[in-house]
Amino acid sequence: MMSNTNVPNSATSPKLFILSMTSPLNYLMCAPDHYDVDYVINPWMEGNVHKSSRDRAVEQWQKLYGVLKGLVNVELVTPAKGWPDMVFTANAGLVLGDKAVLSRFLHKERQGEEPYFKAWFESKGFTVYELPKDLPFEGAGDALFDRSGGWLWAGYGFRSELDAHPYLAKWLDVEVLSLRLIDNRFYHLDTCFCPLTGGYLLYYPPAFDSYSNRLIEMRVPADKRIAIEEADAVNFACNAVNVDRNVVMNKISDRLKQRITDAGFTVIETPLTEFLKAGGAAKCLTLRTIEVPIAAESEQGAIEQGGVEARIVELTGHLLDSGIINRALDLVTDNGGSFQVLEFNLGEQRQSTSLARIRISAPSHDLMETIMGELIEIGAVLQDRETCAANLEPVLQDGVAPDDFYVSTIYPTEACVDGEWIRCTNQRMDAAIAISPDGKTATCKLLRDLIVGDRVVVGYDGVRTVRKPEARDTAKKEEFSFMGAGVSSERRVELVVEQIAWELRQIRDRGGKLVVSCGPVVVHTGGAPHLAYLIREGYVQSMLGGNAIAVHDMEQSSMGTSLGVDLKRGVSVKGGHRHHLKVINSVRRYGSIHKAVEAGFVKTGVMYECVKNDIPFVLAGSIRDDGPLPDTVMDLLEAQRLYSEQIRGADMILMLSSMLHSIGVGNMTPAGVKMVCVDINPAVVTKLSDRGSVESVGVVTDVGLFLSLLVQQLKKLDSPVAVAA
Ligand code: ARG
Repeated sequence: MMSNTNVPNSATSPKLFILSMTSPLNYLMCAPDHYDVDYVINPWMEGNVHKSSRDRAVEQWQKLYGVLKGLVNVELVTPAKGWPDMVFTANAGLVLGDKAVLSRFLHKERQGEEPYFKAWFESKGFTVYELPKDLPFEGAGDALFDRSGGWLWAGYGFRSELDAHPYLAKWLDVEVLSLRLIDNRFYHLDTCFCPLTGGYLLYYPPAFDSYSNRLIEMRVPADKRIAIEEADAVNFACNAVNVDRNVVMNKISDRLKQRITDAGFTVIETPLTEFLKAGGAAKCLTLRTIEVPIAAESEQGAIEQGGVEARIVELTGHLLDSGIINRALDLVTDNGGSFQVLEFNLGEQRQSTSLARIRISAPSHDLMETIMGELIEIGAVLQDRETCAANLEPVLQDGVAPDDFYVSTIYPTEACVDGEWIRCTNQRMDAAIAISPDGKTATCKLLRDLIVGDRVVVGYDGVRTVRKPEARDTAKKEEFSFMGAGVSSERRVELVVEQIAWELRQIRDRGGKLVVSCGPVVVHTGGAPHLAYLIREGYVQSMLGGNAIAVHDMEQSSMGTSLGVDLKRGVSVKGGHRHHLKVINSVRRYGSIHKAVEAGFVKTGVMYECVKNDIPFVLAGSIRDDGPLPDTVMDLLEAQRLYSEQIRGADMILMLSSMLHSIGVGNMTPAGVKMVCVDINPAVVTKLSDRGSVESVGVVTDVGLFLSLLVQQLKKLDSPVAVAA
């Protein structure tokens, strides 16, 4: 096996391949003497074991052979007994010029074909390249040359490994574009992708992930892409042999036939049903053995080149019990990368931690960045440089970070500077990590706060997030299970309320900090008196909201309506739509909410309790604000700053039905702060729980109802007997 340090790089300059006009094309086939469906290694073979007719298979194969002989020179390799899939010579290897990269089959059912194909290649004078053991690559079944650009399209995801692609690039000196297959019916690239003469492409887009589709669309102009439908795809329409303007394939729909014809091709259909039972058709049954490289720059040279990148990361912790290892490996493949576990030391005792060293590869730099970002978020550390050191780059313009700056997350983060891991202060998401000139401190800084000369962490080297070891103890896990559960439904609301009430009591009694962020719906739904109760009883240490919550709260306490609606009777009051403006006007006359309260204009409610109990509040303005109130901060940057000041040191944040303020607050809050988001709109709640921190819980319900239940529960805790009575 090759060592990790000398994995070849891909992305050499694109070459152009043209058909040799003087010598006829050569194809390799293998007669179906021993063909049968003997085992199941793809979905097509399922239910078809020994169900194909040898006679019909022979007849169909002969027909195809006949058609091809009319177009090209066909050579034959002797079939070997016991290797029924050897008919599919596309999987023998990949040929370019006088070089052949021999296949390394994934399944042992086909590995026995390798020596026969190797011998054939050698007998024909090819230089044979063999991939490291355990690095599967299934030849031309998963690698197809573009017919005008000269690069190689290579598939991965089922049979071939992404890590094989750099070898192809190096050995064949060709640019390799990696495409990820995601539908197991189309397990080989040639089952859903067929480059045609003149730069056309016949393919089935849903067989590829979105990144791969984008890559295809970047390289193949729209008028050359012939995207086919599922009905044709499952008849292996893409598994076609293309010789000049001829396309040889299994039976397809008239519509598709017309489209291919319109593109200037002659469709030659030949039935291959017996081979479909093994998951192959025309193209699988052949291998083109003359592929001629011509050194010429492609016109596409300007397009950015892809190229497989590889990095090594380490993960430590209760990797198995906590499921981190699964999450890590899944996120790599979900993002289009692949991995190789280089080392896994399983902790021996229940309490001992495990260590995994994993080599990650990705088909492009962009995808590698995405994968690294997510891996670091779950605690992985890049470990492929001699020393771990964060890369620092200076800020060259106030308020602008260097490209590739590391974007912070909500999790406690450390950067390695001068050999020391230092913990970031002001942890929050979406900030840059700035290192002090002496290299001793690291701070999360918003872009707008960066100044020329700041040094900022770029890339992923020397950055790690320090995650609390995930709970080992199941009993402990259950205690907070409602927290981890994310979005809860109506029937769970009461249970959740009980637990939140309990938490609120704990926080208050130990002198902790609860921050409430809320929208005007709190008032409209009748929740204001309950929220006022929470403030009065010392549960709330800080109040955040917009202009509207304060306006409607004071409208209610001074005029009995909320947006002109009488909350007690539930009807609109005549002229009520002006009420809120009158309130704003009055408070403006007093000069501030404090003064309006002191003057006795506001006698109850949320704002009243804030003032009376010395609870700091911040009202952040927005474009739609009427007035505004004198207290509303219309400078948004200032409002954000004031919010984050209030959030500092919070133990819990109760987010009450305001998408704007909840998300704003969520963005400023580091992991470890419990967030309870209450909203009737599940989308808001989901958005917040997407932060993924175990401490957040979403409650989808009417906020007025929620607050009333919460207060009821708190009162019960205060005097269980009185309430029960
Ligand atoms: N039964 C064979 C397999 O699963 C079919 C191979 C088809 N070949 C191809 N190039 N798609 O390996």
